[in-house]
Amino acid sequence: MAVRKIVTYPDTVLRERAEPVTNIDGKIQRLINDMAETMYSAPGIGLASNQIGEPSRVIILDTSAKDEPKDLVVVINPEVIEADGVIVSEEGCLSVIDYSADIKRSKQVTVRGLDREGIPITLTKEGLPAIVLQHEIDHLNGILFIHHISKLKRELYKRKLKKILKKRESSPQRL
Ligand code: NI
Repeated sequence: MAVRKIVTYPDTVLRERAEPVTNIDGKIQRLINDMAETMYSAPGIGLASNQIGEPSRVIILDTSAKDEPKDLVVVINPEVIEADGVIVSEEGCLSVIDYSADIKRSKQVTVRGLDREGIPITLTKEGLPAIVLQHEIDHLNGILFIHHISKLKRELYKRKLKKILKKRESSPQRL
């Protein structure tokens, strides 16, 4: 297992549609292990494969509270088959530096896919895990939460990001 580098916007891999997984093999197990280690070390509560530069249709999440045991959920080839209600909440993303925004999502979703052994699963979630599922499935379709905000807001963020990246470039290397 390894902590991998998280790809950040505007890297083009984040805009790619990830490919369906056809073989649940050792390579996919390694990808899932790396994704889990990367997500926990960030720390984050969800991650999609293209965020570590490997666009295969795999998402993971863990929305357990800090004082609860870990509860890693892995979904391969996830698909929303039912959605209900509306919820608005503030979202951020490990691939979107220094930004968060209120995003409208379905309050409850049912997602179908495969677990890491390749066994078909159906999950029905409400609230935070439902939001994370939708956010991560969006990633697999090349969509970031900033594609759900107005163009004007996104342009303002792009300008802010340019300044942040410029500042980072000019700051000395930390040895
Ligand atoms: Ni994200």
